[in-house]
Amino acid sequence: MEGDVYYPSAEVIAQAVLKDWEATAEFARNDLQGFWQKEAEQLEWFEPWEQVLDDSNKPFYKWYVGGKVNITHNAVDRHLKTYRKNKLALIWESEDGKFDRTFSYYSLNREVCRMANIIKAMGIVKGDRVTIYMGRVPEIVFAMLACAKIGAIHSVVFGGFSVDALQGRIADSQSKLVITCDGSLQNGKLVELKRIVDDSLRHCPTVENVIVVKRTAHEVPMEAMRDHWYHDLCALPIANGKCATEVMDAEDPLFILYTSGSTGIPKAIMHTHGGYMVGTYTTLKYVFDISDEDRFWCTADPGWITGHSYIVYGPLLNGATAFMFEGGPSYPYPNRWWQLIERFGISIFYTAPTAIRGLMRFGEAWPNKHDLSSLRLLGSVGEPINPEAWKWFHQVIGKGRCPIMDTWWQTETGAFIITPTPVVPLKPGSGTRPFFGQEAEIVDEEGKPVADGAEGFLVLKNPWPAMMRTIYGDDARYVSAYWTKYPGKYMTGDSARRDADGYYWIIGRVDDVIKVSGHRLGTAEVESALITHPAVAESAAIGLPHEIKGQSIFCYVQLNPGYATSEELSEELRQHVSHHLGPIARPEEVRFIDKLPKTRSGKIMRRVLKARAQGLPEGDVSTLDD
Ligand code: PRX
Repeated sequence: MEGDVYYPSAEVIAQAVLKDWEATAEFARNDLQGFWQKEAEQLEWFEPWEQVLDDSNKPFYKWYVGGKVNITHNAVDRHLKTYRKNKLALIWESEDGKFDRTFSYYSLNREVCRMANIIKAMGIVKGDRVTIYMGRVPEIVFAMLACAKIGAIHSVVFGGFSVDALQGRIADSQSKLVITCDGSLQNGKLVELKRIVDDSLRHCPTVENVIVVKRTAHEVPMEAMRDHWYHDLCALPIANGKCATEVMDAEDPLFILYTSGSTGIPKAIMHTHGGYMVGTYTTLKYVFDISDEDRFWCTADPGWITGHSYIVYGPLLNGATAFMFEGGPSYPYPNRWWQLIERFGISIFYTAPTAIRGLMRFGEAWPNKHDLSSLRLLGSVGEPINPEAWKWFHQVIGKGRCPIMDTWWQTETGAFIITPTPVVPLKPGSGTRPFFGQEAEIVDEEGKPVADGAEGFLVLKNPWPAMMRTIYGDDARYVSAYWTKYPGKYMTGDSARRDADGYYWIIGRVDDVIKVSGHRLGTAEVESALITHPAVAESAAIGLPHEIKGQSIFCYVQLNPGYATSEELSEELRQHVSHHLGPIARPEEVRFIDKLPKTRSGKIMRRVLKARAQGLPEGDVSTLDD
């Protein structure tokens, strides 16, 4: 093999649940449906499916057609009949480390039933949307599983988003219920989640009830009839007792999750009970080799797809023990995560390149204070990992023993797509090859495959069970955004190249999506936040390379007449975006410009702005107006 290659040790191979990658890949290549049939059979179905895959109406693929199932039944209920009943399902620690909470599968079920009973009593029925906007507390897991249990569609909004983002998502989904917390803690500081909910609900008439979980000691206003403390509801008789798990069709929606695209409002990516369940179960089992003894920690937030698939559903479907931490990597000190790995005996640790780069800065002394010998596998997700960070992670955290699973996937794909398994030789910075049953291709503008080594657009050729089914309420946009440019193939929006060994190297997004610290944001969202400020006539947001964050947001702003450029105004605009869209979207820099470069048809030429901001040549500007 070419380049820098890390082969799996005999110890890793001996432990791996799946020893022969090639044979499994071969089986799935020859019999895609057979592979996914075998996987689905390992889970419990109320009624079997009649057809594994229905591709008669592409790109509206259907999986496990006719099957009856519920993901919560498989993530929770089914374990209660086994020894796992008394096994830990979830371990949680608070940001300040003052307390932790643990839940066996038995007690998780009680919590989920309690939440489900309550939301049912509020009139939520199968198919209703419920917005969940919380910090990283156990109740967010209960809320998601409870919605799924009764057939409601959850729409989790990341707790780092602010009023505009939340309001837009509640309004678009027409949720009847919002589940939130009074606040959340971030680096010791309070984020006023309930206040943000209150502000958002001024323009969201569909919301009838708000459930508020108490997490902090600060006072929040409660609106009579609409707002209810969760602990008060729990004390009511209706909260007690078992709650039946709804029998769902395999293709019934499980959740929607908003994600940023090229233009317009974020897209409500829709996933289903059957296919998503099989996809997250299977990928976690093979890629992270998960077993009963493992303690799996995915550092993402449940508000992103990584948290949905690999904090909540994937680990529980596998009957594993998931660990969730309320805080971030370096508060109060840069050893916080390493301390937790040691304290809780984490065996599989899945995080993001931006976090690794951030922690690297503090030096090896911090991790070296801790016994990290419980670790056996590491993982990376969200953006390309630079080889330097990969090697540090491998050597300093994994002590050279733990393979790194660099998993490429998306909100839309629901589960890993390009990823190694522990027995696959690794190259730092490459996600290796497509998962079983998948075929990826690198194509040019016209859709023709490019030669190995050349850069092009990454497309996927085969359907897979955890694929999104549509953009909720907008089938036409689903077709045009993903399936039209390269007919018959799924357009990922990423550029990549493939090397001579068939390994894929992701380069980055080719559209107007920015990845800030692994968080997916759209330039359009930032621009819509800016335009609500009276000084702003027009703006353009771009993503520029950033050493730690991967990318950072950089904005050019054209002012309205009567406004003068100043340092203060620039800072005010950054603050404005942070307030409206969320602190994660705060621009690194706002610069003023007399006139934005546009094509003759009026499209902003972000490419020119990007070059300009970095002091690089502006390239072909023949289409530039004036
Ligand atoms: O550009 C790719 C990048 O993240 C995008 C998807 O973002 P999101 O839907 O928020 O999901 C993130 C977590 C699954 C992709 O289009 N990306 C994700 N994982 C990787 C990656 N880029 C390189 N390497 C990865 N492992």
